[in-house]
Parts: sequence; C-alpha cells; structure tokens
Amino acid sequence: MVRFRQHTGLSCDDVLLVPQHSTIGSRKDVDLSTHIGNLKLRLPILASNMDTVCEDDMAIAMGRAGGAGVLHRFADLNTQSEWIRNCREADVPVIISVGLSEADFSIAAMSTADAVCVDVAHGDHARVIDIIKRIREHNPNIDIIAGNVATGVGAKRLVEAGANIIKVGIGPGSVCSTRAVSGHGMPQLSAVIEVKESVAKDISIIADGGARYPGDLVKYLAAGADAVMLGSLLAGTDEAAGERIVEHGVAYKLFRGMASREVQKERGSQNPRVEGVTAKVPYRGPVGDTLNNLEAGIRSGFSYSGSNTLCELQDAAEFVVVTGNTLKESHPHHPYRL
Ligand code: XMP
Repeated sequence: MVRFRQHTGLSCDDVLLVPQHSTIGSRKDVDLSTHIGNLKLRLPILASNMDTVCEDDMAIAMGRAGGAGVLHRFADLNTQSEWIRNCREADVPVIISVGLSEADFSIAAMSTADAVCVDVAHGDHARVIDIIKRIREHNPNIDIIAGNVATGVGAKRLVEAGANIIKVGIGPGSVCSTRAVSGHGMPQLSAVIEVKESVAKDISIIADGGARYPGDLVKYLAAGADAVMLGSLLAGTDEAAGERIVEHGVAYKLFRGMASREVQKERGSQNPRVEGVTAKVPYRGPVGDTLNNLEAGIRSGFSYSGSNTLCELQDAAEFVVVTGNTLKESHPHHPYRL
C-alpha cells in the first residue's frame, strides 16, 4: 500500500516566526553561543565541507569569527595535513571529513581532530552505520558528525551507531539536484524539526543546506538546529576555496555541488551519479563581512522572539504557516524600489 506522511512538509519559505514579547535591552547582549558535540562556538554557523567553500583559509576565518569550518576531503593527504596544521596554529576548531573507504576509516580512527564528519549523500545507509561503529570503537572520545539524513528514524540509527552530531539535509542545497534526479528529499524545516524530536537532548543537530537569507538561519535554529551549515552564502567570499573569475568587469567565484558533473569528472568517476550543478556566485569580499551581516540577522531574530539564548529561542519559537501571498509580502516588493 502506498504510504503518505500525515503532515505536509515545510520549507523555510512556508513559515514565519511569530513575534514574541521581548524584554531584551540590546541585541548586542544576546548570547548566540552553541555546542556542537563538545565544541563550543560563539556563532552557530559552519562552513560547508565543499571543495569551493572550506579549506584552511575558510576554517581559520570561521573559527576566528566564532563559528567553524568543516574541511573538505577532496585533496591528497599531505594537503589535508597542512590544512590541519594551519588550523591548529591559528587555534581554531579542526573538523575533518571522511567518506566510507578503508583509508577514510584509518584517518578517522587515528584522528586527533576535534570532530570527524562522516559525510555521505544518503547517510541513512548500512555502510555509514558500519563505519560510525568502527570509528567510535577506535576513537571513543571524538565528536562524530554523521549525515546527511532527513528523517527521525534515520538520525536515530546514526546515533545508535555512535554519532553524537547529526547533519540534516537531503536535497535543500542551492546547487543540489538530488530531488529532481531521484525524486527523494524532505522539506528542510520539517526535516530539522523531525530529527530534533527524535533524538536525545545531548545530540547536536546541524541544518545543512538551503539557507538564503539571515532569517532562514533563525528559522533553522528555532526549529531545533544547534548550528547551520552554509555553502552558497559563503562561497563568494575571499576565504572560500573556489576560483575567482571576472566577467565583463564583474567578479564572481565558482561554486559547485560535490556531486556535480565537473567534480565527478575531476575525480575520474566511471559511472558518475550527477546530483549537483556548478554555479557562479557574486564576489563578496572578506567572509567576516558576510558573517557580520548574518550575525546581525540572527541577533535580530533572537530579539523578535524575546530570547537571550538559543535554548530560549527554541522554547519561544512559534511558527505560522504562510501562503504564497505572504511570501511575496515578506520580501521587499515596492514597485518603484530604487
Ligand atoms: P547551500 O544551500 O548552503 O547548501 O549552498 C550547501 C549544502 O549542499 C549540499 N551539497 C549537495 N547536495 N548535490 C546535493 O544534492 C550536490 O552536488 C551537493 N553539493 C553540496 C551539502 O550538504 C552542502 O553543505
């Protein structure tokens, strides 16, 4: 029998947060700190482990700004070791990524990184569970980020295997074509809410993909995320690993899905499963400027919810489902806008 979920799945654009009574004196006093496993961050933002986003420069800038970067894994081991050394020297969190190979297992099992991210497109998979169990056995104290999943049962399986941080997101990313190609995915806001409801309080949740505005970060955090992972919003900055290009005097940076044809070709995949695209994003200067802007939006969001901390925000949050008309109303829409 065909099964349907009881509730309609919701994305960021489907909801708004209802303003709550506030006693907050100044937005500056709001505490944005969060925990990702044992890692304390002052800013609940992570740079995505994509090869056009996070190498050592980005990880260092993110760490200095109070967030963290997750180093991508598509470079040789010497290069990755150098990134780790540079991050250590800069005294910022070191988070590495691994896949499912035996070499990946050895790296994770012996790693002295602060956290290891087992990162697979379909994280609710027997092979992911297997490698998490093996890493946990060999490295009992390391923080294990695992994903990506988009369901409560999927998240629970990864937690039972030994992961303590769950990365949520199947198909919401700006350069993802997973949903179009495979017909599978979960509206990202609902996925975050479902995972939050399914795992114990001490399990951290990363909302990965789909954030286009500062307000989206506020919605994901209010829905239960402990941090939000960003690709596109950071990809145009100086510290992003993508190539800078100039077209007709306008600067851009290249940004590509990790399952895009271009990436797969470079990696020599024989039967590429293309589930991503390549894009150019406007060049935006230092990542610190972008982070300041995002931080200001998050502070404003906390204040509209009358919340001083992330915990208070998640308790206070009340979502209202909106229509397409509201979505139009919610973005600047003056006909004579300059
Ligand atoms: P944003 O929206 O912040 O999303 O640009 C970044 C996230 O997108 C995911 N990602 C992919 N998903 N095919 C996918 O289906 C891909 O090729 C791909 N590349 C990245 C990833 O989770 C990232 O953090």
